[in-house]
Amino acid sequence: MQEKHFWSDYKSTFFPVPVVVVSVDTPKGPNLITLGWSGVLNSEPLIVGISVRPSRYSNEFLHKEMKFGLNIPQESQAFGVDYCGVVSGRDVDKFAELKWHHFSSNILRVPLIDEFPVNAECLVKNVINLGTHELFLAEVKGIYVDKQYLDQNRIDWAKAKGLTYASKTYWSVKDAIYKSGQSLQELKK
Ligand SMILES: Cc1cc2nc3c(=O)[nH]c(=O)nc-3n(C[C@H](O)[C@H](O)[C@H](O)COP(=O)(O)O)c2cc1C
Repeated sequence: MQEKHFWSDYKSTFFPVPVVVVSVDTPKGPNLITLGWSGVLNSEPLIVGISVRPSRYSNEFLHKEMKFGLNIPQESQAFGVDYCGVVSGRDVDKFAELKWHHFSSNILRVPLIDEFPVNAECLVKNVINLGTHELFLAEVKGIYVDKQYLDQNRIDWAKAKGLTYASKTYWSVKDAIYKSGQSLQELKK
């Protein structure tokens, strides 16, 4: 067995997670919040979960609107992603500061970040208090992908160059190293 350290820093990100920027309408216009706690949780219907502290400015409007945009960034947007995670919409207009643009989604009419390669419009179905964070469970009603990153109906992350987050650091996702199902193919050889 490897020598294991019993790690007590349990509050930090202990494995790489997707980093996303959620957009939500407010009376002052669309606001943005960066989240490390998010993920796809069900296939049919397609359900995502985002965990947001009640103290966040965005939290109030997630409750009011019960819908949001989920925006998936690429490595070139690390500055803006970080910025949306360290300043509050209470104090600044993040879209204006970053010179990003938004478009309105087809079904739910939520604001989505034009500059990001992948966006989804999400309808909140349930909110669960987990302790420090509230988990918003939402059904994905529509997904938008920049055509330049589509390859045979799959998103080519080698081209789109995604972002992940771990150890208080942003990491690039751009190397495809192994196909799913490839192990079986190799065993058959
Ligand atoms: C990488 C990163 C990940 C974050 N993940 C979360 C998260 O999962 N949930 C949360 O409530 N806040 C998270 N935050 C903090 C919020 O993004 C931050 O407090 C933000 O300023 C809130 O914006 P708002 O006040 O405009 O809503 C994260 C920040 C960063 C930089």
